Amino acid sequence: MDHYFVELGRTVFARWKTENFSFERFPQIAAQALEKRPPSKHVDLAALMRQFLLDDEQPLQSGSDFGQPELIVYENPRFYIQVLFWLEGTMDIHQHEFSGAFHVMAGSSIHSEFAFKNPQSVSAHFRVGDLRLQKTELLETGATVPIHSGAGHIHSLFHLDTPSVSVVVRTHNDPGTGPQFTYLPPHIAVDPFFSDTLTVRRKELLDVMEKTGDPAYPVLVLKMLESLDFERGFFVLQSAMGYLTNLGKWEKAWKAFQRKHGALADYVKPTLDEIVWRDGPVGLRSSVTDGEHRFFLALLLNVPSRKDILDLVARRYPGNPVETVMRWAEELSEISEVATWILDAEFPLEVRVPAEGQAEVFFAALRFFLEGGKGAAFSRAEAGYFRAAFARSSLRALVS
Ligand SMILES: [Fe+2]
Repeated sequence: MDHYFVELGRTVFARWKTENFSFERFPQIAAQALEKRPPSKHVDLAALMRQFLLDDEQPLQSGSDFGQPELIVYENPRFYIQVLFWLEGTMDIHQHEFSGAFHVMAGSSIHSEFAFKNPQSVSAHFRVGDLRLQKTELLETGATVPIHSGAGHIHSLFHLDTPSVSVVVRTHNDPGTGPQFTYLPPHIAVDPFFSDTLTVRRKELLDVMEKTGDPAYPVLVLKMLESLDFERGFFVLQSAMGYLTNLGKWEKAWKAFQRKHGALADYVKPTLDEIVWRDGPVGLRSSVTDGEHRFFLALLLNVPSRKDILDLVARRYPGNPVETVMRWAEELSEISEVATWILDAEFPLEVRVPAEGQAEVFFAALRFFLEGGKGAAFSRAEAGYFRAAFARSSLRALVS
């Protein structure tokens, strides 16, 4: 076992015991202990890995698939300490059914905090409401953040470096603070640990029908949407959306869902649109390898405002952030005789410019928005077309 974490665990235990193991007090106790002797300064990661591989005396490991992977480095009946490796950035927005604190031991992350306003329970495992971003910050190596259980602490962490390593000092479970909702912005909260196996199997059966080109697919999905409750209807709609769109049957399916669920359906369309939008930058990130470009895509994916993006760029890269973003945009552009693209934003056809001049005009348009729409480089109509082209793309936040 690693001596540092055994010491950390004993310190936290002794301190928490004096507070009668209060769940409310635990986040602060855990955070203070991590800040006093931060793992980022006191743990040799290579030695820890070596010790974990070669020493058989280890705490009981969980079967959790959280982390890539999760190592449990200290355990106690009341709480435990995990070291989490992250190879891929994830952007799940979630709350916790446990409390404690996390510490960035290696790498850095974009951390966002949210509030879920006007929540309405549809079932014990499904809620609708309005998810609002409260703040976004860049957490560098050494940062420590308390975790409070329940809906008062909704957050997302996007790990920027590979691997990123975090240390979490956490309770096993805080009774009464579940479910551990995952949020689908802007309106839906689902319980990721609730297993509706009939719906899972039905979706898998629909996938079989899709892969085999079964002509009954759209008819059967429509009948399901006409009869299913809101929660299960949503999951079927979400899962079938892509294929129904390809078949030209999406509008009909959506109308059926809307007829069935009335006002509740208003929460669904923007949420599905957001899921589709996220596929854009997520897909691009899987094909982009340059570290700066991956950082840029991570910002586009996680930070919805131009001003916040420019602030975070300036924190990580010296110089004028507008120039940095313009350089990335140029490096990520694709110019051919038929079309001009900056990432997945295509030069709008409504703006009449010969192909060979499009790139220059498109970059000028991007700069215009990055600088807050100052100057009169374009007519109102042209600015509108450029704004719409960027808003449809992964660069959406830059015209916010
Ligand atoms: Fe979390």
